[in-house]
Amino acid sequence: MQPRIAPSLLSADFARLAEAAAAVPSSDWLHVDVMDNHFVPNLTIGLPVVQALRASTDLPLDCHLMIDDPDRWAPPYAEEAGAHNVTVHAEAAADPVMIARDLRAAGALAGLAIKPGTPLEPYLELLRSYDTLLVMTVEPGFGGQEFIADVLPKVRDARRRVESGHLTLAIEVDGGINTDTILAAAEAGADVFVAGSAVYHADDPDRAVGELRELARKAS
Ligand code: DX5
Ligand code: ZN
Repeated sequence: MQPRIAPSLLSADFARLAEAAAAVPSSDWLHVDVMDNHFVPNLTIGLPVVQALRASTDLPLDCHLMIDDPDRWAPPYAEEAGAHNVTVHAEAAADPVMIARDLRAAGALAGLAIKPGTPLEPYLELLRSYDTLLVMTVEPGFGGQEFIADVLPKVRDARRRVESGHLTLAIEVDGGINTDTILAAAEAGADVFVAGSAVYHADDPDRAVGELRELARKAS
């Protein structure tokens, strides 16, 4: 299992997104947090900005949609913004299987996210339609929050199901990932690590990416 690091642009300078992407050339994915002020209290960026970003970097875009009605709004991130992976929230999706079908038809990976308080069990069957599972390790909405270790049993559970061949998924963790917490997340079985403040508040963001990857590799 090769750990992948996805810096989150939420902690970057929103007036300089292209530079922020260029500052982390060794990252695996670039994580883009789309928030609509409805599903979460915060408001960030949407499709036009992600399209502009697509034209400004070669890094695969990992779009995390914290929005209502992803059934309607998610597919364009694959179709029109060329996202590599598009993640929708299980709590917001009306027909998650259809969303996954649309995303894959547009050539993207399909991701399903669950909030810290959302159990994994009800989604096990439909996760067969998905490529990534994003386990939130903070409440979605803001960067710089403290890692919630209590959600790691869900990561362990998902990893066991992947190992036993019941699911084929990348397991992504998002929120509070830094050099102190990445080990626990990696040991639990995560293989994609989103990090906002730990990367963009570091003196050398790309070096921070390398350090995080090295720590995750040791654990797995
Ligand atoms: C929170 C976002 C995260 C956020 C993580 O709702 O989904 O991607 O950027 O930021 P840190 O790493 O600072 O917790
Ligand atoms: Zn995110």
